[in-house]
Amino acid sequence: APSSEVSLTVNGTRRTVTVDNRTSLLDLLREHLGLTGSKKGCNAGACGACTVLVDGQRVNSCLTLAVRLEGAEVTTIEGLAKGDELHPLQQAFIDEDAFQCGYCTPGQILSGVGCIQEGHTDSPEEIREWMSGNICRCGCYVKIVRAVEQTAG
Ligand code: FES
Repeated sequence: APSSEVSLTVNGTRRTVTVDNRTSLLDLLREHLGLTGSKKGCNAGACGACTVLVDGQRVNSCLTLAVRLEGAEVTTIEGLAKGDELHPLQQAFIDEDAFQCGYCTPGQILSGVGCIQEGHTDSPEEIREWMSGNICRCGCYVKIVRAVEQTAG
């Protein structure tokens, strides 16, 4: 199958990879770069477990073609902490106990970061609506919303 070279910045580091043209950003992250924090739940845009930021915008990485990301800046769960210091929303998820199995958590946190940056945090209802693309099978929604609300301040 045809392949292409793509150069993009992932968590602050420039990466150049050659991928099959059909490769998703999620597979590029997981299979080519070994960044397995972003999860493959449905691989069809329905669960949000694969959520990352591309140029500051939330995307489902399973639906995003890697070859279209030339020059893009990607942030994954592996890139949020500063050394030993967790991102405030990561810390809030711990403080609020906002997960059980943890499978959806990386996507929830990236989506929450996007939600905060976009300013959709005026009420628990607004947060819930703007994070409705992120499914939690353990049903931790109340605590997830609380963690986002607490971080947004
Ligand atoms: Fe991408 Fe479910 S794995 S939305």
